[in-house]
Amino acid sequence: MATSRSPVSQNRELQLAGAELIERELHPLQHALRCPYHPDGDSLCNRHSEKNDSDEFVLRCPECEREFRVEAGVYRLMPDEFRIDQNPHRVDSESIQQMTREMRQRDERAVRSSLFRREPDGSPLYWMNIQYDAVARLASVGGGAIGVDFGTGVGRYVPWLLERFERVIAIDFSFESLRALQENLSAEQRVRCLFVQCDLSRLGLARGVASGGLCIEVLQHVPDAGMRKSAIANIARALIDDGTLCLVTNAYAIARRLGGSPQVRQDGTIYSYWHTYGELRRLVEPYFEIETSRGIISYDTFPVRKLPARWRLRADAMLERSSLGRLFGRDMLLNLRRNAN
Ligand SMILES: C[S@@+](CC[C@H](N)C(=O)[O-])C[C@H]1O[C@@H](n2cnc3c(N)ncnc32)[C@H](O)[C@@H]1O
Ligand SMILES: [Zn+2]
Repeated sequence: MATSRSPVSQNRELQLAGAELIERELHPLQHALRCPYHPDGDSLCNRHSEKNDSDEFVLRCPECEREFRVEAGVYRLMPDEFRIDQNPHRVDSESIQQMTREMRQRDERAVRSSLFRREPDGSPLYWMNIQYDAVARLASVGGGAIGVDFGTGVGRYVPWLLERFERVIAIDFSFESLRALQENLSAEQRVRCLFVQCDLSRLGLARGVASGGLCIEVLQHVPDAGMRKSAIANIARALIDDGTLCLVTNAYAIARRLGGSPQVRQDGTIYSYWHTYGELRRLVEPYFEIETSRGIISYDTFPVRKLPARWRLRADAMLERSSLGRLFGRDMLLNLRRNAN
C-alpha cells in the first residue's frame, strides 16, 4: 500500500536529504557544531544550498544569522570580539586583550611545532616526557564515537585520542595551531578529525556530542575566574551523562605556596593561574564526580630537580601513586565523570 505523505512533509524530507548531503560533503561531524551564542539552537546551515568548490565557505546560525567562516578545513566559531572588526574605537576588557595576546603568541609558535616527540635524556624539556607519559598512562578516558581535545594546541594528544575514539574534535582558539595539527597528522588521521577554532568559555558544540575528552594544560591560561567557570560548564555540557574527562592543570600545591610562588603569573604574553585542589573541586563538582586526583611532575621542581635523573624519575613515580602527591606536583591530574545534572 502506498504511504500518503503531505507535500509539506515530502518537501521537508527533500530539504533534509539535501542538507544531509551537503553536511556529508562538508564534514561528517558538522552536526556537532553550534553557534557559540546559541549552543542549544539548531545546527548551523551552509549559506549556499549547493556545494561550494573552494575550501572556504560560510555557515550561518539559524537563530541569530551570525555567519562563521570555514577556512582550509578549520571551522572558525570564535565570538564576535575575535572575528569582527565592528568598531575601531571598541575597548576590550583586560581578559579579552589577554586572550588576544595569547592567541597571537600561540599562532606564531605553531608554525615551528610538531606532534609529541620524546625529548632526549638530559634535555631541559625532559619534563615534557614525564607529563606526556603521565597523561597517556593515567587518563581514564573511555572510548566511543566522538572524543574532544579541549585546547588541543598542535595536537600532542590527538593521535592518542584517535586510538580510543572513532572521531576526534580538536578545539583551540589558535587558528595556526590547528593548521599545524592538520599538517602533522597522516591523511587517515586527518579525515577522522574536525578542527574547530573556538573559545573554551563559549563553545560552539551541541549538548552531549562526545563521550569523552581531554583538557590538558589549558584551564590555567583562561584569564579570569568567571571564564574558567564557564569553560568547565561548557566542557561538561558537550559531554554525555557518564562521559569522561581528564583535566590536567597547574597546581598551587602546598610546596609551591610555602615556597612563596605567586598564584597568578604573567609570563610575557601567557597568563597562568595555579589552582589549589579545593578551588578545582569547587569548579568541577557541580558537573562531575572526581574519580581520581593526583599530583604529577615533580621532575623539574625544587628540591627534586637537585637529584640525579634516576631519582627524579622515581620521585615522579611515587608522586603519581599517592594522594600525598597532590601536595607536591607541579600539575594536578583529575579523572572526572560527568554526572547526570
Ligand atoms: C599549553 S597549551 C596545551 C596544548 C595541548 N593540550 C597539550 O597539552 O599539548 C594550551 C593551549 O590552550 C589554548 N587555549 C588557551 N586558552 C584557550 C581558550 N580560552 N579557548 C581555546 N583554547 C585556548 C592555547 O591556544 C594553547 O594551544
Ligand atoms: Zn547564533
